Amino acid sequence: MHNSKKNMNLSKIYIPLTAIILLFFSCNDQKKNLNMPSENLSVNDIHSFAQPTQAVITHLDWQAAIDFDHKKIEATATYRIKAAENVNKIILDSKGINIFSIKDGESGANLNYDIGQKKEHLGKPITIELEPKTHSISIKYSTGENAEALQWLAKEQTAEKKHPFLFTQSQAILARSWIPIQDSPGIRFTYNAEVQVPSGLLALMSAQNPQKKNESGLYSFEMKQKIPAYLMALAVGDLEFQSLGDRTGVYAESSVLNKATYEFADTEVMIQVAENLYGPYQWDRYDLLVLPPSFPFGGMENPRLTFATPTILAGDRSLTSLVAHELAHSWSGNLVTNATWNDFWLNEGFTVYFEQRIMEELYGRPYSEMLASLSLEDLKIEVEEMIESGKGDDTKLKLDLTNRNPDDGVTSVAYDKGYNFLRLLEETVGRDTFDIFIKKYFSDNAFKVMDTERFVHYLKENLIAQNNLIIDPVFYEAWIYQPGLPENHPTPKSDKFKNVESALDNWMKNENKEILISQFRSDNWSSHEWQHFVRKLPTKLNDAQMSKLDAAFGFTSSGNSEILASWLEHVISNQYKYGYDKLENFLVNTGRRKFLTPLYKKLIETEEGKKMALDIYKKARPNYHYVSSNSIDAVLNYSPVQN
Ligand code: BES
Ligand code: ZN
Repeated sequence: MHNSKKNMNLSKIYIPLTAIILLFFSCNDQKKNLNMPSENLSVNDIHSFAQPTQAVITHLDWQAAIDFDHKKIEATATYRIKAAENVNKIILDSKGINIFSIKDGESGANLNYDIGQKKEHLGKPITIELEPKTHSISIKYSTGENAEALQWLAKEQTAEKKHPFLFTQSQAILARSWIPIQDSPGIRFTYNAEVQVPSGLLALMSAQNPQKKNESGLYSFEMKQKIPAYLMALAVGDLEFQSLGDRTGVYAESSVLNKATYEFADTEVMIQVAENLYGPYQWDRYDLLVLPPSFPFGGMENPRLTFATPTILAGDRSLTSLVAHELAHSWSGNLVTNATWNDFWLNEGFTVYFEQRIMEELYGRPYSEMLASLSLEDLKIEVEEMIESGKGDDTKLKLDLTNRNPDDGVTSVAYDKGYNFLRLLEETVGRDTFDIFIKKYFSDNAFKVMDTERFVHYLKENLIAQNNLIIDPVFYEAWIYQPGLPENHPTPKSDKFKNVESALDNWMKNENKEILISQFRSDNWSSHEWQHFVRKLPTKLNDAQMSKLDAAFGFTSSGNSEILASWLEHVISNQYKYGYDKLENFLVNTGRRKFLTPLYKKLIETEEGKKMALDIYKKARPNYHYVSSNSIDAVLNYSPVQN
């Protein structure tokens, strides 16, 4: 990168040098907290009872039996612990767990313990008394009814319909509902496990995994790298494995396996691209697990084994940016971890940025600019809605989730405002300079936590000072600590989307499908162009217009979940009766929250829709994971006890 170019980019954000010098003197506060037992000492995680300054777990040995009949896990969890001098207790998090005994892991002697008051969202602290010679503790327990991380699926809810299925979703603070644990992203540990499942099923974890079923149903796991509790994961089902490359493969139910293998064919190349950008992949293997459709997210970056929704199996590899995203978390999130959920944007914003870089490398800039445009569109809509509904504070990158569910922070702010901020930094300093910085950020902070303040400090030292740049702190502090979307946000340039918009304009003027058809044929529209087209349709369309569009382009029967979900919003707004069966079918069978929330919100805008929403929800709710039903309960003001 040449200096002249840098300074040109920076001219709009120049400030007097004295202010910068002052700033550097004020932020040399980072290194004083590196004593025993955890280097995470200064970070106070409001979502965990653990007190890492006093004692932390360093390794978990988990012996578990999965009981599908009673929908519970019975387990013994043995932890190696590290306590500061003169500390005689360790505190773990738990939620709805039944504790049978707590013993010294070596001598087997009972230890005194106390289970504290339940706190909303957080569950109960378990305070265990330590003897001076206690180096390990062993807890016998079983999970409670409705353990929130767990979803137990009846065989009818799987693709094959022959065997039941279980999966976990621990992020953000649900690991504590299936393992008593220090459930704070700043506390890392290694683990090994032995899991007994019914014969005929395979168990998988966020660890070194088996590739085929065995008769006994007993499986062993090892995770040699230190991970935080929110990355603990388990899935049990009638699963098969297909290799994709040297260090990649996919697990799915047998009838889904071929489709998944086709869809994820580029995974190995994605890893290579990612490594070329930001350094070696540190977790040995990268496998994907395709879950049943009730999985509440698109994907979850469980180390070594990404959990994915089947709704990305579009048949044309058009939704694989999700794989790039979850893979990118192997650096941003799993290596460098947000210190608390208030710093969630450090996980997701970096990951969206990295995801887009991978996609650009693989499929070109015009492709990634479509993704960037979709992401900016999402962001603008959500930020505006949040500000209008009095949630302006949640549009800051740095959140304050005190006394709240960390789930409240899962908005496009962390993802897309985070992404746009990093992209602005890139555009400001130049890509080469920025890439050197990011690569160093990952290697300097690998297996450590990062909070927003330390990131700002790191940015000043390693990007700004290192390159003799002059950047007004106001410039980045507005992004991090102020609500809304700053005006200097980057603007993706997508000619492809411009063409879509002009085709749509034309159609609106003439309603002549031939014009549209010829346009998309000549441009060879991808599913992203269609997605943009459907999103940009006017909210009010009459029945004839809806039918014409549907007849020409078959949106109601689209096999692409993103296009279908956007179209179903128009089905609702325009009371397009022809689409109602599909709508109900989609809501009952898909548990992916990102799709459900806007559809239910749209439905309750009218009285008729509200009734329909409730009718559908009664059928659908048993298919949803807690994460989704909890959100939709709130949207519909639905109380499961009364209903
Ligand atoms: N880690 C998230 C999912 C998550 C976030 C679970 C917060 C629980 C709490 C995952 O990486 C993610 O971002 N998934 C997205 C994928 C997308 C942005 C490509 C999803 O599920 O939609
Ligand atoms: Zn993510």
